[in-house]
Amino acid sequence: METIVSGMRPTGHLHLGNYFGALTNFIKMQENYNCYFFIADFHMLTTHPNPNDLQDNVRIILSEYLASGLDPEKAVIYVQSMVPEVTELYMYLNMITYVGELERTSAFKEKVRQNPNNVNAGLLTYPTLMAADILLHRATKVPVGKDQQQHLEMTRDIAERFNKLYTTDYFPLPQAFNFEGELVKIPSLDGNGKMSKSYGEKATIYLTDESNVLKKKIMGAKTDEGPQSANSQKSVEIENLFSLMKLVSSADTVKHFEDAYADCSIRYGDFKKQLLADMDLFLQPIRERIKDIYSNQAYLDKVIAISTEKARQSAKKTVKEVREIIGFRNDI
Ligand code: ADP
Ligand code: TRP
Repeated sequence: METIVSGMRPTGHLHLGNYFGALTNFIKMQENYNCYFFIADFHMLTTHPNPNDLQDNVRIILSEYLASGLDPEKAVIYVQSMVPEVTELYMYLNMITYVGELERTSAFKEKVRQNPNNVNAGLLTYPTLMAADILLHRATKVPVGKDQQQHLEMTRDIAERFNKLYTTDYFPLPQAFNFEGELVKIPSLDGNGKMSKSYGEKATIYLTDESNVLKKKIMGAKTDEGPQSANSQKSVEIENLFSLMKLVSSADTVKHFEDAYADCSIRYGDFKKQLLADMDLFLQPIRERIKDIYSNQAYLDKVIAISTEKARQSAKKTVKEVREIIGFRNDI
């Protein structure tokens, strides 16, 4: 069975973009692949988080993963910092990663622009740590978005270099995972690009948003002056609201409002109220599960213990074999 690895940095609550863009795919993958999904808390150190925030953010993401349907019996869902073998592999890989190629990475250049006062060596070698995450389980597939494709190419280059240097085929060259069908892009509520935690609270729907918060966001979403003639083109704002409705409402409901838009009888107030009701209905059980799981420390500890054990088994085996390939003694 093929192995998949994917990581997510713990930077706050998950939103609908994360859910429909990533999690629903992970949930399908766990049925057919050997999956390792981890919370990339070592990567967070590049931005110097406060220790309390770090702990809580890990707990939040873990609860939200589990509440959304990731199943610890089917996939290994672990915390990166609890599998310290990755740091040893990271160190070996750093020896075959060139400073020039790291400096050319667009994510690095972007971070340097945003944060010129914190250009630390960990930030520069972020792609090497990501390569270590992937190669640690000798993954063949990595489900990543467009922004991570350059990092994945570097992982392939590093793996290939390792194989050449030590005349081995130990590391498979991991490929980007193409989800069946096309990648979905969940739009923001305000007509501005994709939903993202970095583009403002008001335009982003989080899985934990309570009814009153949803109401503010959806009823307050920007609209236009309405269709001026039959079958007119929708504005981006209205198109986005329809896209969100397609995620959570029945096909009949969507059709009802599409028809109303086409014959100019649509009332945006009613349209938003329906979207709000269906969104709330969709999120309510997820929200409840998140609360239950987040407050059940014993359950979270159990999941972490089982998963860490599985992740470390795989990690230890790789690191042991890598030490042998490099030529180190293994009787430590
Ligand atoms: P954000 O943009 O909020 O910072 P991340 O970059 O942390 O989100 O994304 C984590 C995962 O969620 C990635 O796999 C990414 O492709 C997916 N994702 C994030 N936002 C969206 C979106 N609006 N539509 C589809 N997928 C998304
Ligand atoms: N860099 C990824 C991001 O910002 C997170 C990540 C870390 C990752 N290690 C990984 C993703 C390994 C896939 C595989 O989204």
